[in-house]
Amino acid sequence: LDNGLALTPPMGWLTWERFRCITDCKKYPDECISENLIKRTVDHMVNDGYLDAGYEYVGIDDCWLEKKRGPDGRMVPDRERFPSGMKALADYIHSRGLKFGIYEDYGNLTCAGYPGVLGSEQLDIDTFVEWDVDYIKLDGCYIPPEDMDKGYPEFGRMLNASGRPILYSCSWPAYQEDKKILPDYASIAKHCNLWRNWDDIDDSWASLSSIMDWFGDNQDRLAPHAGPGHWNDPDMLLIGNFGLSEDQARTQMAVWAVLAAPLLISADLATMKPEFKRILLNKDIIAVNQDRLGKQGLRVWKQRNISVWHRELSNGERALAFVSQRADGAPYAAKFTFQDMQLPEQTYTVQAITLSAPLYQGLPSAILRTQDKKLQKPGHLGYILLYIPRTPVTCLPSIV
Ligand code: GLA
Repeated sequence: LDNGLALTPPMGWLTWERFRCITDCKKYPDECISENLIKRTVDHMVNDGYLDAGYEYVGIDDCWLEKKRGPDGRMVPDRERFPSGMKALADYIHSRGLKFGIYEDYGNLTCAGYPGVLGSEQLDIDTFVEWDVDYIKLDGCYIPPEDMDKGYPEFGRMLNASGRPILYSCSWPAYQEDKKILPDYASIAKHCNLWRNWDDIDDSWASLSSIMDWFGDNQDRLAPHAGPGHWNDPDMLLIGNFGLSEDQARTQMAVWAVLAAPLLISADLATMKPEFKRILLNKDIIAVNQDRLGKQGLRVWKQRNISVWHRELSNGERALAFVSQRADGAPYAAKFTFQDMQLPEQTYTVQAITLSAPLYQGLPSAILRTQDKKLQKPGHLGYILLYIPRTPVTCLPSIV
């Protein structure tokens, strides 16, 4: 969508994957969807370096509404959990230099059963504008996927007519893919800033791994539609939660960087472990994700659950991620040729980003040996991202 927004993949924080639809603040005071959770998160984003690293949107996903609209037909935020109202919350978010994201659904109801926008589109957009909303995730429960080709662009036109720059996240293709309807990605890219393509991510390696597979398997019809202003969205980052090891967390960050995916953290920043925080704040990986060329990378090679992911960057640089989805954890030797990596055969200066040192002892020296052997030409900087969970891959000197 050409509205001047999301020229690089959006970065921020979103409630859903970690905090779901927790609405009982008596039982779960620190986890319920509430203004307290949002304000606490905002403070951490500012104080702990997330905003400085580029994470600028803070978003409330489902379960913020009262079950019924007001007598005037307007959406009413839950009175107990958002007692100050959304405008006051937006003011707080903006006062700390962040941007405000919110969730609604194009159907009659949201996925969790709260009022959707259908039939109240203009009133709801007016309300979002009054609240100074900067980002809308518009979900697609309770509406036939066949109606979305018309409905999502229409809602987008109304958003645009409001005059307020609002980032538009569409779940349009996700529901069509699910029903085996082939989405019109050219139209989706024209009308949305980002769009969920596939399944919801859950806090597990199995979920992450299957999503990586799907994006690799379907890349030919997805990747061409990504670019400045419009991005495929493989869903939130799991990093900082319970289901991923440190290496698996690195893997998600590396693959999301190569995929030019939105980076939306969904974790409790108050209890974030330092090893996960380091991954989320890694400047080199974020730089790959945010590369201004905006070209989505591809899985260029896969064998025995080892894969190579490759992204072309501005200035002729390349980012490569070597990923293992093997179930065992024993060292495994893999050898990659230029052709496997789809790299033109030439000399590269290689920058290895955050190796997990104990696991990859063979690797830095392999790269160094290679660098010793071949002359380094300035201007051919390449990035190698090495996040290989469980199964260390020994890259042989033939790597470059
Ligand atoms: C759907 C979406 C999720 C989340 C929930 C909320 O499942 O795909 O990302 O927004 O609805 O109910």
